[in-house]
Amino acid sequence: MMPGRVEVMIEEAEITKRISELGDELSRRYEGQPLTLVCVLKGAMPFFGRLCTAVSVPVWCDFISASSYHGGTESSGTVLVRVEPSSEMIRDRDVVLVEDIVDTGLTITALRERILEQGARSVAVVTLLDKPSRRKVPLVPDFIGFSIPDAFVIGYGLDLDEYYRNLPFIGLFVPET
Ligand code: IMP
Repeated sequence: MMPGRVEVMIEEAEITKRISELGDELSRRYEGQPLTLVCVLKGAMPFFGRLCTAVSVPVWCDFISASSYHGGTESSGTVLVRVEPSSEMIRDRDVVLVEDIVDTGLTITALRERILEQGARSVAVVTLLDKPSRRKVPLVPDFIGFSIPDAFVIGYGLDLDEYYRNLPFIGLFVPET
């Protein structure tokens, strides 16, 4: 476990409130349309669970998994799709990819393309956190929980070497120097 300390950046209550607002936004946007919510594993799990219950339109749920980080705090730049949603959940459906954080944008861009290849009618991206200053590809999420500065954050699903996903808030990891 990397030595360092955790500072609270976004409190649990603030996250809960924002997810409820995002649920309302999605419900308004997709009213009367068949919608599939796809959780980007593993980091989006807590966000996905709460967002599902905040959406009032009928939804189908599925999962996708990609790996671009191989430990540490920097992206490797290679995106491997490891778990795919079943094609009947995607084909001719409006799909919303539910992501924990968009950093360089490489992961979500690759997943978006994969979902389009599977025959989705449309693909939108909802992310709990956005780090726009780190972008390497011109990807703008359709729905954003919080826009944050360039810092390595943990908690609420986000990990550092697989630790800290269980923190109920978004924290800033400050490495020991
Ligand atoms: P991207 O491909 O660079 O946009 O990275 C997306 C993925 O990198 C996210 O789904 C996270 O798993 C991981 N990631 C990016 N920034 C952070 C961070 O600050 N904390 C933890 N994971 C991060």
